[in-house]
Amino acid sequence: MPERVQTGAENPLATPGRSVTLTTLFRGGNAIQSAPIQRKVYDAAVFGESSISLTIIHSPTYEMKRTTAILALAASLLTSGNLLHAEDAEITIHADKIQLAYDTKEFTVKTGQKVKVTFINPADSQNLQPHNFILAKPGKLNAMIALVSDPSKLADPNWIANPIPETDDMLYHTKLLKPGEQETIEFTAPAPGDYPYLCSYIGHAAIMNGVMKVTE
Ligand code: CU
Repeated sequence: MPERVQTGAENPLATPGRSVTLTTLFRGGNAIQSAPIQRKVYDAAVFGESSISLTIIHSPTYEMKRTTAILALAASLLTSGNLLHAEDAEITIHADKIQLAYDTKEFTVKTGQKVKVTFINPADSQNLQPHNFILAKPGKLNAMIALVSDPSKLADPNWIANPIPETDDMLYHTKLLKPGEQETIEFTAPAPGDYPYLCSYIGHAAIMNGVMKVTE
């Protein structure tokens, strides 16, 4: 299996006969251009839109110098304007213990970045409310609030147990979490814009919301 490593010309893992994977944001349909000499020593492959796998396949008899040169080439490509580094964005959001609110009302990620949102309903909640985290499309906060606050839903025990609306305005969501529970959702940051998030439990949405800002 390829190993994931940092880019860099002097990476100690870049020894002959070993496979390494360099992972970065890949944008705009560019691929590593292989010169003939380079084709002898590695395969470059593109997976999806978010990573490049560079597998060094040359034999142990190749000189270390050559491996170093190839990794330098890869590193320069990965740091050039065509290819952007992208660390995963890991966001942790708690529900407030007392108020109907998220402790994080705004966070920013980059288009194409892998985003992990961990939403925690604290075990020492004082209001003892269940909460969820629903991410919606730009401009849809008010529509989502209206939808989840529809009085006809409030008498429906199925809705109260699992208040996830059926709508194209919603992108991603956690399940409803009791105090002491948490859930992590993962997604790729969409196109630039302001994406509202909200809790859909009865009566929360209008005040329990925030915004994920996505930049270029
Ligand atoms: Cu809530």
